[in-house]
Amino acid sequence: MIRPAELIERKRNGEVLGDAELAELILGYARGEVPDYQLAAFCMAVYFRGLNAAETYALTDAMIRSGTTLDLSAALGRKVVDKHSTGGVGDKTSIAVGPIVAACGVPVGKMSGRGLGHTGGTLDKLEAIPGFDVNLTTERFVEQIREIGLAIVGQTEDLVPADKQLYGLRDVTATVDIVSLIASSIMSKKIAGGADAIVLDVKVGDGAFMKTLEDARVLADAMLELGRRAGREVVCLLTDMDQPLGAAVGNALEIVEARDTVRGEGPPDFTELVLDACARMLAFSDLGIDVEEGRRRAEAAVADGSALGVYERWIRAQGGDPDPAALPRAPVVREVPAATDGYVTRLGAIDVGHAALHLGAGRRAKGDEIDFAVGVVCRVKRGAQVAAGEVLAEVHARSDDDAERGAAEVLAAYDVGDDPPREQPLLLDVVA
Ligand code: URA
Repeated sequence: MIRPAELIERKRNGEVLGDAELAELILGYARGEVPDYQLAAFCMAVYFRGLNAAETYALTDAMIRSGTTLDLSAALGRKVVDKHSTGGVGDKTSIAVGPIVAACGVPVGKMSGRGLGHTGGTLDKLEAIPGFDVNLTTERFVEQIREIGLAIVGQTEDLVPADKQLYGLRDVTATVDIVSLIASSIMSKKIAGGADAIVLDVKVGDGAFMKTLEDARVLADAMLELGRRAGREVVCLLTDMDQPLGAAVGNALEIVEARDTVRGEGPPDFTELVLDACARMLAFSDLGIDVEEGRRRAEAAVADGSALGVYERWIRAQGGDPDPAALPRAPVVREVPAATDGYVTRLGAIDVGHAALHLGAGRRAKGDEIDFAVGVVCRVKRGAQVAAGEVLAEVHARSDDDAERGAAEVLAAYDVGDDPPREQPLLLDVVA
């Protein structure tokens, strides 16, 4: 017997709900017996009242039980290591990390998501590659990981269906940025997908869901606790999202940058984050090595071309053309010059994310078509010294009008001042 109205009221009043009650609500929602409007009201009650650790675990467990699970470890006969980012601007990390880790002999089978609001999604980026298919059957997914060491696919219909429904609902009811709901959404997918060990990249800053380091720590702790309860190893990297990651923001542009990084020619900040994530995944794997050795092997796989080899085999295996020349290109490329001399004191991630979204790189509404070719390339980042007239960024647009509007938005994302800004590291903290 489902009593959603009663459960919403009790959560609204700040009561703690039991495991069975949360399961009843979530499983009822997944079966279509609880309507969207009641789940939306419940999420808003959670926004104001929160969920404690036991409730968050019960919610996660119910989401997992809403569908089937995958025992990738048993299928591959290996310990399975996964990574996930909480979402940011220019975050193409998985596309570079996957081939490098696989080239080091550790299989990677990853289920990724689509863009949400101003943040991009790995699946959308991969679909910029002509022919690339993100919908593999479970059998093909496992077979490809065995053959090539890497597969990145979309969430299957039957894996955590409750999250799929809830995610779409949260996106349009101002209930995305809630620690317990983000933690359960991410960890339910990772646990159901069969990961034994998980490297989580928790983004912090104006382009992330968590705006402050304190909030990011709370989210990291919630995910660590879920991992502990589910018997999975978890490490959280807290990384800066006050400015976009790397230079490229936009689907095809980000594929080029991820490929460049896999062959050792990526931007320094993105390369650093990718190699760090690889090192930690390798240290979690069954290779029996530590983070330093993981880093050394990741660097070697980039330097000797083996990571690029895996990248090309992977893209081909999923039907895509790995040649960057095959990617769509925007017809108009407009340079954005600096108005004054000085130092870049701010490059707003959310502003650049919005500029890319308005150019057509993301969806304003569920189901919108994406323009894979458009986006922004930030040629200079925070801390750089620039002269008036020097190019700050490029806008890749579908039309002159779009380019004009995009260039104004990107220029507004940059602050140029007389003094250099305080240095802010990309890696802010590691919690395990
Ligand atoms: N990523 C997810 O998978 N879920 C969220 O709720 C937020 C980011």
